[in-house]
Amino acid sequence: MKFIGVLLIFLIFWSNSFAAPVEHKLDSTQCTTCELVVEVAHDLLGDDTLEDCIADFVSFVCTALHIEDHFVCKGMVGDFKETFLYVLDQIIVEPKEICGILLKGCDGGFDPYNATWFLPMPGVKPSHKTPSPIPAGKPILRVLHLSDLHVDNDYIIGSEAKCGEPLCCRPPKDTNEAFVSKDVSVPAGKWGTVGDCDAPYWLLEDMMKNIAANHKDIDYILISGDLESHADWDYSKEGHMAKVQNITDVMKKFLPGKPAYFAIGNHEGVPIDNFGPHFTPAKFHMDWLYGKMVDEWQDWVPADQKTQVIYNGCYMKQLFPGLRLISLNNAMGDSNNFYLFINQTDPDGTMTWFLEQLEDAERNGDKVHVVAHIPGGGGEALEGWAINYYNAVNR
Ligand SMILES: *[C@@H]1O[C@H](CO)[C@@H](O)[C@H](O)[C@H]1NC(C)=O
Ligand SMILES: *[C@@H]1O[C@H](CO)[C@@H](O)[C@H](O)[C@H]1NC(C)=O
Ligand SMILES: *[C@@H]1O[C@H](CO)[C@@H](O)[C@H](O)[C@H]1NC(C)=O
Repeated sequence: MKFIGVLLIFLIFWSNSFAAPVEHKLDSTQCTTCELVVEVAHDLLGDDTLEDCIADFVSFVCTALHIEDHFVCKGMVGDFKETFLYVLDQIIVEPKEICGILLKGCDGGFDPYNATWFLPMPGVKPSHKTPSPIPAGKPILRVLHLSDLHVDNDYIIGSEAKCGEPLCCRPPKDTNEAFVSKDVSVPAGKWGTVGDCDAPYWLLEDMMKNIAANHKDIDYILISGDLESHADWDYSKEGHMAKVQNITDVMKKFLPGKPAYFAIGNHEGVPIDNFGPHFTPAKFHMDWLYGKMVDEWQDWVPADQKTQVIYNGCYMKQLFPGLRLISLNNAMGDSNNFYLFINQTDPDGTMTWFLEQLEDAERNGDKVHVVAHIPGGGGEALEGWAINYYNAVNR
């Protein structure tokens, strides 16, 4: 049996070596190949429970099918490993279901992107009133909206800006690389570089100085997520907590007395995009991040919203009579939040909470300013999340 297995692997590698690198949208013949590879893997790895060998199993299938770019395959190494092992263990009962996850349109498994859910829209839709123009002389609110600051604390002026890694203008990913002595083709500029680089910290400070000097009439600040750099291989809980504190301090330093309302971005997760809802074991929960946020934002988040922030990273604030702000944590509908593969229906009741908030505002005749990171219906949003969001917004 082992011999036949080895022979089959040889044949699979051999037949694949003539093909271009396989994308994860494969056709039905490739589904058959995947199921064959799974059978071989089963033979080779023996009759251990799937739980014991799932990492080997998935790695084997990824290698045999030359699937390099699929996030599950990438995720089996490095930061995501623990998350993936947990998620795969929850969702895979039959080994061949792995094909259903890795290959679009392969059945025998489930498609995490096709698990739509619908919440009933609350309340009775009021009749439409055409908004009338605001009479002249009414007070105007001015809002400073900052997003995706992506501050890279390791930015180095003069370092390579075209480094061939996902993020440049900083020390290389592999610290053994002698990057200093290497000839620099595009040196990183002082204020940032058009290239594969994030923003240096001093750019943020300089921008804030300029805003403070020229825009004294700001009423409030919105910061819609992604404080961290794109160097997601370097992410740590400590680093992310320090960044929350640092950006908060920057706001207080340059715009003292101006309230800042943050929303959570997908880069606030460690690993990136992964925010464990409460159906996961406690070690995946987000108390470390949300707790730090509550501490840092206590001047701005109402005391009665603290438990909400710590629970799912959302809050509501009555800004003025007639206007509320809702900070919605769209990581609960993030298509790369792998915990949601287990159950993406209304994680931690977040969409239900949002609908209740909107209904309450409507009942009280208030308008709502929503701050969130991932666009409701963008490619990074899961279908179910997007549908419910749009049903609410379009009701
Ligand atoms: C999604 O699932 C539904 C019901 O399970 C099925 O009818 C539909 O064909 C699926 N859509 C896709 C794109 O796979
Ligand atoms: C934010 O962090 C940077 C980089 O570590 C540091 O130089 C700066 O002083 C910090 N800013 C504030 C306001 O704490
Ligand atoms: C998924 O989560 C929803 C909302 O919490 C729950 O109602 C549902 O039973 C869960 N589904 C499964 C299969 O656990």
